[in-house]
Formats: sequence, structure tokens, C-alpha cells
Amino acid sequence: MFAIPLGDGGAELRPLEPWQAEEFLAHMERGREYIGQYIGLPDAVTGLTSSRAYLQSYADKAASDTGRIYGIWVGDKLVGGVLFRTMDVTLGTAEAGCWLEPSAVGKGLVTRAARLIIDWAVEERGIHRIEWLVAAENAASIAVARRLGMTKDGVLRESHPYRGERLDIEVWSVLAPEWRAAKEDDAGDLAGGAG
Ligand SMILES: CC(C)(COP(=O)(O)OP(=O)(O)OC[C@H]1O[C@@H](n2cnc3c(N)ncnc32)[C@H](O)[C@@H]1OP(=O)(O)O)[C@@H](O)C(=O)NCCC(=O)NCCS
Repeated sequence: MFAIPLGDGGAELRPLEPWQAEEFLAHMERGREYIGQYIGLPDAVTGLTSSRAYLQSYADKAASDTGRIYGIWVGDKLVGGVLFRTMDVTLGTAEAGCWLEPSAVGKGLVTRAARLIIDWAVEERGIHRIEWLVAAENAASIAVARRLGMTKDGVLRESHPYRGERLDIEVWSVLAPEWRAAKEDDAGDLAGGAG
């Protein structure tokens, strides 16, 4: 299957599809506690049937052009992923998300993977606004939003109940012109560094 390298260390971004339900479930078992601190993904993947159903829901979104999911592998081990939970090509909006099992945290994998899918959404699909919804206490994910050049739009106060408390959800976003300007800055820095 095709794969995009995620820097050094043998990590790759690859399609994540319903036939990989068993591998996805095994990955979720390794990361269940960590991944589920602020998001319900592990609660949606509790056995082979629900794992397949979750991946099928994203296959359906891909078919209807309303979302995407990709896995991050290190060697032959699925360690996380990035997704567009929603994508509306007519409105030009998409909501991105991510997760990693603990062994893959702290290496920049999600930032690199998210950059690839956001760039695809902006440059190839004409998406204008990429959103990132994150629990206000989820510092690691907020740091990813910052690294992606996102701006905090605001807070959905006590948005929804999660594990016994209502979570404040921060909304972060990056707009297509901001995304392109940041890329140009990076290219300028690289050219400057080389000269
Ligand atoms: C959110 C989550 C994916 C962030 O993981 P992460 O590993 O911190 O994020 P990245 O892959 O972008 O890596 C960044 C880290 O790698 C380090 N790093 C190393 N090399 C790097 C590189 N080349 N580029 C960027 N960061 C690099 C960074 O310094 C940072 O570590 P630090 O926080 O100790 O400074 C992870 O905490 C997670 O899975 N949480 C549970 C699920 C979840 O909440 N998902 C988000 C829902 S909104």
C-alpha cells in the first residue's frame, strides 16, 4: 500500500481502512487509557465489531467526501492517526483531529502528519478553514494546534459531559491564506539558512 514518510525513524502515514480493524483494535488496547483522557475514540472502539464499524464510518465519509482517516505506523506497528472528523467542501470547512499511543508521543509525528493532511485539504480541496476542537486541559493537543499555526477562536464553555464532568472545549483554527503565508515563511527561512 502507498505510504508517506514522516521524517526520520521509519514512521509513515498510510490509509487506514475497515480491513485493518483487528490491527486498529490492538493499537487502541495499547493506548486506551492515554488516548481516552479527553476524547471518546477508545470508547467507540471496544471490540472487533465496533473497530470495523468505526473504520467503516470513515470509509463512508471518504466515499461521500465528508471526512478522512489515516494511520501512523512506525515500522509495522500502528501507533496513531490523524483525521478529518468532518469536511464540507461546499462551505470550505473541515475539523481535524489526532491521537497517538504512548510509545509514539514526543516525536513530532502528529504535527508532521497533520501538516500533510491540512496541506492536502487547503491546496487540493479548496478548504478555507481548518478547525481543531480540544479540551481546555489537553495541553499536548493545544501545543499541536500552536505548532500548526492555529489561532484560538474561543471556548465552548462546558460543552459536553465526559467521564463525569462537562468539558470546556477550545476552538482553534487556521485559514487558507494563513496556512500559505506560513509555508512561504518556512520556505524563506530554509532558503535563508542555505544561503
Ligand atoms: C495530542 C497528541 C497526539 C500529541 O502528541 P505529541 O507527541 O505531543 O505531538 P507531536 O507528535 O506533534 O509531537 C510533539 C512533541 O514531539 C517533540 N518533537 C520531537 N521532534 C519533533 C519535530 N521534528 N517536530 C515537532 N515536534 C517534535 C516536541 O517537542 C513535542 O514534545 P514536547 O511536548 O515534549 O515538547 C497526544 O498527546 C495524544 O494522543 N493525546 C491523546 C489523544 C488526544 O487527546 N488527541 C487530541 C484530541 S483534540
